[in-house]
Amino acid sequence: MKKIWNTDVTKDKVGEVVTVYGWVQRKRDLGGLLFIDLRDRSGLVQLVLHPDNACYDKALNVKNEYVLCVTGEVVLREQANTELKTGEVEIEVQDFEVLNSSLEVPFAISNETTALEDTRLKYRYLDLRRSVLKDKLEVRYRITRAIRRFLDSKDFLEIETPVLCKSTPEGARDYLVPSRVNPGTFYALPQSPQLFKQLLMVGGMERYFQIAKCFRDEDLRADRQPEFTQVDMEMSFVDEDDVMSLTEELIAYVFKEVKGIDVSLPLMRMKYDDAMRYYGSDKPDLRFDLKIQEIASVFKETSVGFLQDVLSNGGNIDAIVVPQGCEYYSRKEIDKCTEYVKQRGASGLIYLKYDEELTGSIVKNMSSDEQEEIVKILNLKKGDVVFILSGLPKVIKPILGALRCKVARDLQLISTDVYKLLWVTDFPTFEYSEEEHRFMACHHPFTAPKDEDVDKLLTDKEHCYSKAYDIVINGYEAGGGSIRIHDAKVQEKMFEALELTKEDIEEKFGFFVQALQYGTPPHGGLALGLERLSMILSGTENIRDVIAFPKTASATDLMSDCPNTVSEGQLEELHIKVTK
Ligand code: AMO
Repeated sequence: MKKIWNTDVTKDKVGEVVTVYGWVQRKRDLGGLLFIDLRDRSGLVQLVLHPDNACYDKALNVKNEYVLCVTGEVVLREQANTELKTGEVEIEVQDFEVLNSSLEVPFAISNETTALEDTRLKYRYLDLRRSVLKDKLEVRYRITRAIRRFLDSKDFLEIETPVLCKSTPEGARDYLVPSRVNPGTFYALPQSPQLFKQLLMVGGMERYFQIAKCFRDEDLRADRQPEFTQVDMEMSFVDEDDVMSLTEELIAYVFKEVKGIDVSLPLMRMKYDDAMRYYGSDKPDLRFDLKIQEIASVFKETSVGFLQDVLSNGGNIDAIVVPQGCEYYSRKEIDKCTEYVKQRGASGLIYLKYDEELTGSIVKNMSSDEQEEIVKILNLKKGDVVFILSGLPKVIKPILGALRCKVARDLQLISTDVYKLLWVTDFPTFEYSEEEHRFMACHHPFTAPKDEDVDKLLTDKEHCYSKAYDIVINGYEAGGGSIRIHDAKVQEKMFEALELTKEDIEEKFGFFVQALQYGTPPHGGLALGLERLSMILSGTENIRDVIAFPKTASATDLMSDCPNTVSEGQLEELHIKVTK
């Protein structure tokens, strides 16, 4: 095993003979002198060979990515390279061995790369040699290490739960695995260990955690993968405050350990309804302001026909003010914003510019009182731009929420290394599915309703709220959880509210409902998205950057060419026929 890392070769080793191992990053033949940059996981060290060196000719033949074992004396460089940790020294090679050669690599192993992501995914093992990627995996490792340390100090047990499970509806589509020995039956891969962790509470484990692989067959986004990892936790004898304060203590510990950042606690809390109202999102990014303001009162007497219609149909007129936006938001940029909101379902975008005077799409149709009122109510300053949407809140709030983020990106209002953490609480228990024409669970069916809402579960679903909470960091849902229903009667009522038939319940959750009847302790928990945390702490918006072997947006692995077809024989054994 190697004894030192490349980056251990610094000034204090001058005069010592060291042996280093690694890959050839670059070879430079300067006529008289041969330089090789040798890379290992820690970084680069420079090797030097003079023409009179016995190894000189052999060294001339090494190429990029050859694997070397090199012994030599550490000497001071004539000219230090301040960019490198080892930049003050180099190794004068005394002997070296080529441990392996390499084909020519399809892209240069360097942090700046123009290689297409598909090529990098096909040769992921080469991509991993780039230190930008390696560093992110290291951050991920340091996060899990800190989490384990913290939870251990709080008496949690790390317990594994099955990967081959019963298919229970949880929100996304299941990945199914056919059973060979039980023809026609299937296991599902867990979307999360939700039921198991609750059963562990029934089983008296009291404090559980698991770094758990989860699988969801859903549409992928920049922050979603079909298989991902949760830091899954569950605790008995707790209420919402207990789970939230333990989790924020954990997060603060991780931030300190991994980034040296002090997170001030307790974290701010915002009710779901307020998050939607003011930020148009249940995961508001609070690194910038641009709050949504409700300005229907300005238009009470409006002569603008479509605004009259909106108001008489119970709609809202909502605005965001972009301070000093006039300069950036030219006609062309405003058109882009209009396109942006239309793609998300808005019928159009009203804009106002407050420069020398108020100008914009509807100003001609606004009375001078309305103009004055809007300047006052929005506290406009010369140079501000206002974007306005009108319509039903459930339609326009999320669109304004998205526009708010676009504006922040456009105007570069988001500074790096700023972290805004908060809890979003008091989620609605149900959300109405237009597709299924029924109310569905907003989180999952095991989430406890607020005590005062238990009696409304069957009669007033729109006004039921849950003991659920999400932790949001910089606009990402970094984790979510809830206090669970521990009373079998309430659980049955919940299933009934979700319009599950007795047969459905029995078939899908019978085992679970039964367990609830054997002295289930009050319990609750939460799961953090490990990739999301890793993205936030390693400064990337691409979830693939924090996964060693990720899938593409169409859920494929380009390196191993998966998913793939299998032989007829395999299918037969599994009692499966593929129809075209
Ligand atoms: P939830 O579905 O909110 O809760 O998931 C918890 C956290 O997991 C992360 N996450 C994902 N990360 C990457 N790719 C995905 N496809 C993906 N889906 C979710 C998010 C999310 O906040 N059993 C409950 C937790 C509980 O109630 O204790 C659950 O799974 O960061």
